Amino acid sequence: SDAELIAVIEGVKSRMGSRLFLPAHHYQKDEVVQFADATGDSLQLAQIAKKMTAAEYTVFCGVHFMAETADMLTASDHTVVLPDMRAGCSMADMANGFQTERAYEILSERLKRSILPLTYVNSTAEIKAFVGRHGGATVTSSNAVRMVEWALAEREILFFLPDQHLGRNTAHALGVPLEQMAVWDPIADELLFDGADDEIRVILWKGHCSVHEKFTVGQIEQFRKAEPDRTILVHPECSFEVVAASDLNGSTAYIIQQIEQAEPGTKWAIGTEMNLVQRLAKDHPELDIVSLNPFMCPCLTMNRIDLPHLAWSLVQIEAGEPVNIITVDPETTRYAVLALERMLERS
Ligand code: 13P
Ligand code: SF4
Repeated sequence: SDAELIAVIEGVKSRMGSRLFLPAHHYQKDEVVQFADATGDSLQLAQIAKKMTAAEYTVFCGVHFMAETADMLTASDHTVVLPDMRAGCSMADMANGFQTERAYEILSERLKRSILPLTYVNSTAEIKAFVGRHGGATVTSSNAVRMVEWALAEREILFFLPDQHLGRNTAHALGVPLEQMAVWDPIADELLFDGADDEIRVILWKGHCSVHEKFTVGQIEQFRKAEPDRTILVHPECSFEVVAASDLNGSTAYIIQQIEQAEPGTKWAIGTEMNLVQRLAKDHPELDIVSLNPFMCPCLTMNRIDLPHLAWSLVQIEAGEPVNIITVDPETTRYAVLALERMLERS
């Protein structure tokens, strides 16, 4: 039963004390978040991982790419565990090392201008290493503006992967017109662009988040018509059209901050993952908070982490037989850490 699983988790946590560290992303279920030693957005979790020197084990309650980052930023004798290996990310899986190297080669050859790759942290360690090798950096939704601004000043063309929406929204906010943005289709090995090659300023990898693509301009229009006083607040993984039609957009930490500062009685429709929207609605009864999409939009892979998996991984750790250990090989780590450090020093 849930009560038994909770007792198991509490028992292991209290017996292991500071040997164990349990971070959780804001999209995790409440049943998991209640045990978190720290919660955060992707940037905060990367910063926390870097400072994690005391604990022997990190039990990462998030998705695979976040656990990889924690492994790469912590000492080699620190063990990072992901309670369920099926907790992946469909966006991160939309780019692999072979595709990105080939794209970089084709684009450099064709465009004959300097190209700087940036990758959203929602990418595999392999992609972070590709970016690190070519002088680029990682980006999160909370520092994307600063990082894209840096990249645009550094080289002639920005190559942003794997989320076309965060790339497009951020570059546009910095003044790059849509007419100067091309899209790279990694399946067809094709550059999608209507103008002349020398007009290209930004190339966006054709990837997206399967959760945030479920928010639409139609949903915003319905709210505008029925309740014009409801503020529309979305994550920048939503499409350009949705972000443009919304009132506010930002990372999960930004969304939380907006809600915490909101005037009592105000109305909000939030376009991000379901667990976070439901938690905000529950924690703020003084506000009227709903999901922008009436079907709520869960991230199925984030939701893989639950009480049974958490209890199982903790019991295995206490028994000295940890399972689902996340280890990134030293060569990949070397270059991926370069990309992560370039971001962390600018955040
Ligand atoms: P942030 O927490 O950085 O806003 O990321 C959102 C997300 O999709 C994580 O997978
Ligand atoms: Fe990946 Fe989207 Fe889920 Fe985040 S919300 S883990 S980007 S699928």
